[in-house]
Amino acid sequence: MPKIALGAASSVSLYKALEVLRGFQKAGCQVQPILTPNAAKLVSPLLFSTLSGRKTIVETFDDGQAWSVAHIALAKEIDLLVVAPATANVIAKFAGGIADDFLSTFFLAVEKPVLIAPAMNEAMWHDPQTRLNAERLRARGIEFVEPEAGYLACGDAGHGRLAEPETIVAAGLAILGRAKSLAGKRVLVTAGPTREAIDPVRFLSNRSSGKMGYAVAAEAIRRGAEVTLISGPTAIESPAAAEFVRVVSAADMAKAVLDRVGKADVLVMAAAVADFTVTRPAKAKIKKGAGSPSLALVPTVDILKAAAARPGRRFVVGFAAETGDLRKNARAKLKAKSLDLIVANDVSVEGRGFDADWNKALILDAGGGEIETPVLAKAELARRLWDIIESHAAKKR
Ligand code: CTP
Repeated sequence: MPKIALGAASSVSLYKALEVLRGFQKAGCQVQPILTPNAAKLVSPLLFSTLSGRKTIVETFDDGQAWSVAHIALAKEIDLLVVAPATANVIAKFAGGIADDFLSTFFLAVEKPVLIAPAMNEAMWHDPQTRLNAERLRARGIEFVEPEAGYLACGDAGHGRLAEPETIVAAGLAILGRAKSLAGKRVLVTAGPTREAIDPVRFLSNRSSGKMGYAVAAEAIRRGAEVTLISGPTAIESPAAAEFVRVVSAADMAKAVLDRVGKADVLVMAAAVADFTVTRPAKAKIKKGAGSPSLALVPTVDILKAAAARPGRRFVVGFAAETGDLRKNARAKLKAKSLDLIVANDVSVEGRGFDADWNKALILDAGGGEIETPVLAKAELARRLWDIIESHAAKKR
């Protein structure tokens, strides 16, 4: 039985949280209610306890007990945290890491998926700081059920009304459904740039941050896959992959990928591999007094092409970083490298693609199909990509 923690904050729409609770129960989930102290002034926690059959948690030190341990235990136990309604204050606390009541403390301890359904006045929802807070949470993989338009408790009509309980329940169940969709699958993901040494202190590289590949790996882990993440040098903390391999050069990455690809069910090559390497890197630091040096470059192995050509049935996904002719260039790469899918993005747009939290992609498949996404948080793009990979891989089998 899936276990859900349902957090609710002090909005007039709080009564709808009871319907959300009932909706999850009807779908066979166990629900642990959590109210913020202000929410508990609007509605009796007893009502939530009676419906859920579990004591509603409000304060961090309820009953004189140290909930500092209870919130960790509960965080491990649940499959999903749903916060409905979430106020601007709760969203700000989550985004800023403030832990001054049970719900916000619990949020920090939760490593499972989180779904947030905001409810507030339209001006508050569109406030630049609230937007920024929500964007920060989205960039971390947290999903939102957008508020709807309609009459608000303050008498205004606008965007900010809590989504309908059935919409929230459906979004929560969709997350739970994905939780095991890649169970038993071995997934190989590459991420980040490579570095090609010029001398012991200098190298050739590119602007890739690794964020997209890490988001792809994190989503596969969330879906239950056994993930190997092969990463070039990045500044990001690695997700809890079954295997994490750090590499530096294109040659290191080629070896790491080709050694493992035979066992992979899916390969997603999100790394920005250097196309050229320095023929003979200098053994000692090149001194500026020695005149203008010239670099002799040789092409690196095309890892993706080599991996796709290996025998065995697997689903192979490449990326294409382009600065023009996106569709044409990406389709040519898909064909030349015998890929199942290619995720193309225009890296010439500031704030998207390389070294950004956001991306907009054109996803092409081998059958001629294509999907163009809007600008999305990389975590959201990773979710959509896995939905597409799963549906295409099912057809390929
Ligand atoms: N790739 C690879 N090995 C390389 C270069 C690229 O495996 N030596 C992979 C990348 O990880 C990506 C795909 O090939 O998934 C396309 O990379 P991209 O840099 O867009 O294209 P290239 O094939 O390098 O072609 P070009 O640089 O001419 O655009």
